[in-house]
Amino acid sequence: MNKIVVTIDGWSSCGKSTLAKQLAKKLNYVYVDSGAMYRAITLYFIRNSVDITDIKEVEAALAEINLEFRFNEVSQSSEMYLNEENVEYVIRDLVIAEKVSDVAAIKEVRTFAVAAQQKMGTKKGIVMDGRDIGTVVFPKAEMKIFMTADNAVRVERRFKELYAKNPNITIEEVKNNLEMRDYIDSHREVSPLRQAKDAVVLDNTNLTPDEQLKLALGWIKAIK
Ligand code: C5P
Repeated sequence: MNKIVVTIDGWSSCGKSTLAKQLAKKLNYVYVDSGAMYRAITLYFIRNSVDITDIKEVEAALAEINLEFRFNEVSQSSEMYLNEENVEYVIRDLVIAEKVSDVAAIKEVRTFAVAAQQKMGTKKGIVMDGRDIGTVVFPKAEMKIFMTADNAVRVERRFKELYAKNPNITIEEVKNNLEMRDYIDSHREVSPLRQAKDAVVLDNTNLTPDEQLKLALGWIKAIK
């Protein structure tokens, strides 16, 4: 069976990474979480007080950033490394989520991240999730999925995830963050979140992870 490129785009917290991981495991493909790259860049910018309105500062900072995914045999998942430091845990914080969409809207940041993402896909056999993967990163991907789910369900899912790490978090904060990110991500000038014309829509509001996997595998088998 020829290896293909699978792209998964969609709104925040609608289960893109869950499906991408399931598919990568089942197909024995590489999974790339493109959002983790924007989150790691944001972490670097925050730590180094980079003024994101100053493009020269942004470019100088990007030149200092090395991003890498490394597979963790224990957790059986790939983790984000920023300049050799494992940042997988810290980039999931709300502090990062509150800034990441502004950082990801910067043209220079996207050029940097997209180049790295395209390099990872040259051998195919990859599942990548994000916001512009089917439209910009791999416009010729063989299988494009666009995910969506009810807002309340998405908020609830993300709240549970974040609450486990920080019991001080409120559902309001999570809801506001999701709405803000979806707004910025879909209204930015460069590579806004869009459903690719040739993408298949997967609404997983009422689907279990197993059901969504079965559905997506069926689509992939049909095109192979
Ligand atoms: O996927 P995740 O929610 O971790 O992504 C975090 C943020 O990174 C998104 O809200 C969006 O601003 C940005 N992002 C992006 N393009 C991608 C992936 C993520 O702009 N391909």
